[in-house]
Formats: sequence, structure tokens, C-alpha cells
Amino acid sequence: LKDRVLEEVESELVVWDVGLGAATNAMSLISHYEDIALENKDRPIRPLHVISFENDLDSLRLAIQNHHHFSYLKHPGPFHILDTSSWKSKSLPIRWTLVHGDFLENYSNSQVPDLIFYDPFSYKTDSNLWTLECFEKIYQFCQGHSTELFTYSSSTAVRAALFGAGFYVAQGVGTGPKAETTIALTRGSDLSLSSIFLGSAWVEKWNRSGSRYPAGLTLEQQAELSRRILAHPQLVAN
Ligand SMILES: C[S@@+](CC[C@H](N)C(=O)[O-])C[C@H]1O[C@@H](n2cnc3c(N)ncnc32)[C@H](O)[C@@H]1O
Repeated sequence: LKDRVLEEVESELVVWDVGLGAATNAMSLISHYEDIALENKDRPIRPLHVISFENDLDSLRLAIQNHHHFSYLKHPGPFHILDTSSWKSKSLPIRWTLVHGDFLENYSNSQVPDLIFYDPFSYKTDSNLWTLECFEKIYQFCQGHSTELFTYSSSTAVRAALFGAGFYVAQGVGTGPKAETTIALTRGSDLSLSSIFLGSAWVEKWNRSGSRYPAGLTLEQQAELSRRILAHPQLVAN
């Protein structure tokens, strides 16, 4: 986040927060941005636009009704988001927009993101958001732009779908009970994280896996996905 905020470009840093939920990720982002701004008072920083997608505002509503239990809600942003679907900081170049409704129906009306916090519930609950088709749509929308997607999932089928869509795929840091997470990038040249990019060891694991493919693919589509994965420049290079 810090690297992207301090990039010497004037355009807004656009962050998609897919699955606003109770706004934990969004407020973590905003609070880190506020810290970065404080530490870098003497230099220009990129303005921030957070775009949250959510089709069910009950979690945020419940958290706000009980805000004394949630210290991160001691901030005007979440209240305004729930009330008017937008918030603008008075002191810093931060704006926050809520897109209320289904992510897949709405993403294409938004700005192309620099960062994506991809946090739907797991495949069993939010199936549509973990398919090859969904990741293809996101990749195509972001193509030509330097976009990094962060998700808690490290499942082989999800990583296969990300490769199949065209993303470069890296191992992300562990979180909670998860030893690793996943980062997907539109550009292989943004490989400051090259040491943790998936390579031949992942392909071996994928070959052995009983769940190699995201759900919903025909046998032909599975074969096509395998072909794409094995021809992906990141994996050919390894
Ligand atoms: C794991 S929770 C997100 C937690 C949240 N990121 C936080 O930091 O508190 C997943 C959220 O994704 C939302 N969601 C699931 N499918 C969606 C869809 N198709 N469009 C928009 N939001 C969706 C759910 O309603 C739920 O609030």
C-alpha cells in the first residue's frame, strides 16, 4: 500500500474492496493511508479512492449499532457509507464509495483498480465470485493496467482459475489460521515479489491435486484450462 501511495503519479490510487462486510478491511486501509499521509507530510501522496462492493449491508449495520465493541468504527467514514453510500475526508485526499448490489453486475461501471481486496465468503457460499469466468472478467477489465489482487484463499482450484484468467500468481503472507494467502497481478513485470511467485513446485502440487479445477467447467473447459496454465509465461519461465 505504502509503495503504491508514494508512487510519483497524480492519479488516484483506486482500491476495490470486494465484500465490504463490517468494513474491517476498508477501515484498515483508510487508517494505514492516514498513517502514511502523516509520515509523509512534506511530499505529495496519491489521493485514495476506496470502492466497496456489498450486496448485504446487515454486517455493517449490526457493527455500527454496536460500535462500542469495534474500535475501528470510531471514525466518521463507516457511518457516512451506511447513510449515504459515500464519504470524503475533510483533511486528506480520501474518498470512499459504496456500490450496493451484486459485484458482478456492477464492477464494470467502476474505475479500473490498482489494488483489489478480494474478500467474498468461501466458494460454498459465494460460488459465483470464485469461478474462472469471474476471474476472467476481472482480468480483462484490468488488462493493460498494473493491478494487484489480494485474497485469503490459497486453494489450488482458485489459483488455477487465476492463472487460467491470465494473472501472475504469488504466495501471499499468512493470516490467522492460514499459513499462506494469494496475490494475483496483471503484470509479470511487477515482480518485486518474485521470490514467492508460484513455479514448478505449485505445478507439481496442482498435477497431484484432487481439486485441480474451479467448479462448473465441462471436461473440454478443464482441458483448455490445463493448456492455459501450462502455457502461462510465469510457469513456462519456471
Ligand atoms: C467475508 S465477508 C467480508 C468481510 C469484510 N471484507 C470485512 O473486512 O469486514 C464477505 C462479504 O461479501 C459480501 N458478498 C458476497 N457476495 C457478494 C456479491 N456477489 N456482491 C457483493 N457483495 C457480496 C457478503 O455479503 C459479505 O458481507
